[in-house]
Amino acid sequence: MTYELENLITDCRDALSEGQSTEALEKVCDAMRKILQNPAFVEQHFGKHLEVGRTTLYHDPDLDFYVYAHIPDGAILSAPHDHASAWAAYGQAVDNTQMTDWVIPAGEELPKPVKTYSMTPGTAGFYNVGDLHSIDMPATSRFLRITATDIDVLPCQYFDAVDTRKSIAEHLA
Ligand SMILES: [Fe+2]
Repeated sequence: MTYELENLITDCRDALSEGQSTEALEKVCDAMRKILQNPAFVEQHFGKHLEVGRTTLYHDPDLDFYVYAHIPDGAILSAPHDHASAWAAYGQAVDNTQMTDWVIPAGEELPKPVKTYSMTPGTAGFYNVGDLHSIDMPATSRFLRITATDIDVLPCQYFDAVDTRKSIAEHLA
């Protein structure tokens, strides 16, 4: 049976209704990997025929999580950032995203990269509350994202003083 949006929603609700633990977020990512194997879903929500922008595919009225389809308006290179009090899970739908994990060393103010990896179609991963990450993606990248709540209204912390690519090249090359 094909894994559809309804299945994703049900599995996310089941996982998150027990609490927003690491195990629950792993289950959310498992569900994302499953739906990204559905070519009709990928075409419907990430196909070349679609306009750029972010589409809300679902918002849960009880648990408050959001499911978004992102079609970026051009390439994106972000500074290291968190999502304040929210977690966020990313699932790659089309092309790739260079993801990097960051930590602030003890006694320092700016984060340093600790791991960088390419997310390819069908892969998914999450950033828990406070986890710092940056994204670097071409204009052709398209991704599914599930967030704990509406993160647009949260005081997310961006470290704009960091040159993302330069710092990654310096520390992880
Ligand atoms: Fe993020």
